Amino acid sequence: MFIAYKCIIYFDCDNMVNNPFEFGSAVTGETFIDRKNELKTVKNAMLNQQSLIIMSPRRYGKTSLVKEALNQLRLPYAFIDLEFVNNKIELCNMLLEKLLRNHPLQRIKKIISELIKIQPTILIRPDGSLGIEITLAGKNDRDVYLTDVLEFPQKLSIQTSKNHIVVFDEFQNVNRIDEHLTNQMRGAFQHHHNVGYVFIGSEESIIENIFQNKDSPFYRFGKHFTLDKIPKDEHVKGLLKLFKSRGIDAKKIINEILEFTRNHPQYTQQLCYEIYEVATGNNIINHEHKEIALKQIITHYNSSYSKWLNALSNEQRKILMGLAESNLSPYSNEFMQKYNIASSGTIRTAICALVDKDIIIKEGGKYVIEDPFFQEWLTRRHNH
Ligand SMILES: Nc1ncnc2c1ncn2[C@@H]1O[C@H](COP(=O)(O)OP(=O)(O)O)[C@@H](O)[C@H]1O
Ligand SMILES: [Mg+2]
Repeated sequence: MFIAYKCIIYFDCDNMVNNPFEFGSAVTGETFIDRKNELKTVKNAMLNQQSLIIMSPRRYGKTSLVKEALNQLRLPYAFIDLEFVNNKIELCNMLLEKLLRNHPLQRIKKIISELIKIQPTILIRPDGSLGIEITLAGKNDRDVYLTDVLEFPQKLSIQTSKNHIVVFDEFQNVNRIDEHLTNQMRGAFQHHHNVGYVFIGSEESIIENIFQNKDSPFYRFGKHFTLDKIPKDEHVKGLLKLFKSRGIDAKKIINEILEFTRNHPQYTQQLCYEIYEVATGNNIINHEHKEIALKQIITHYNSSYSKWLNALSNEQRKILMGLAESNLSPYSNEFMQKYNIASSGTIRTAICALVDKDIIIKEGGKYVIEDPFFQEWLTRRHNH
């Protein structure tokens, strides 16, 4: 009796104090702030086996959105992050492994023996998850295995009478893995009417080249969907709800927070996470809490930010400072004069380099510093 009572108290307390904000990896469940329309688009595509291509800059919430849709739909799926795949055989093993995890172990052996010619070894990892290993004698074996595995999602869907979803995250890596892979994938996937494919990408130019270039095998393969930031009203509502779930009223400063983060999903969560830590014990949070939280974050990243800055050329620094403290377009005469920049050619080269480094980004037709904390660090440093 006593132990059970203690457990309940402990659990309740734990629930009360844990920080409801999260940043750095995909969020689902409680922390996921509803994006009603976007979620509907993704879920509808999945339910109708309509291929979907989701694009946005990094940290806007693509992975979170797709994972939340998968959690809500409860359809069998395979989620593969191509950033962690080194070659085609690894990709095949991962695809098989993740698709098979949706099915009971007793059935898996039968499925594999009927659908795959070169039999892989099925193993159970120490953490209890299912793994796949394969020994392939030569190129011929590799080709046979690849063909079978790329056809596997459709055959599995037919054999189990269940439509499956296959998600490829960070799809811009596909050409790094193998230059023929897009051709081979397209050749197989175009006939898969019982599988919903989702391709997620964060490097716009590469993704556009794969799906919008007439010469690319994936030309017009699916519905394009550009994910924007979380709509402001949904963002406000969701953040207030998260604060409120821990007994905190954040109405006074919610707009100030979103103005600072420019409504960016990840940086907003990060700032709110820190504010929550700073404000522990208070029922209402105010400007002071936000300022302390902000200072803590930029202090924490001080040495990283110094390194970023030191890695830049003089021209790149000038442009960065100009963007940090003014609203001027970097191509305007006023900007060039104010920040002492020689020519518009210099600006173009420097801007391309800063975009490549992910330090600045085009937002609503304007170049801005991607990380608002870095921007704040730059201006504070400059003004001291
Ligand atoms: N719907 C959401 N609700 C709350 N926070 C979100 C949401 N989407 C994204 N985020 C925040 O942004 C961060 C990055 O999300 P992620 O899905 O990994 O982005 P992407 O896949 O576009 O790089 C998350 O760690 C979280 O802090
Ligand atoms: Mg992602």
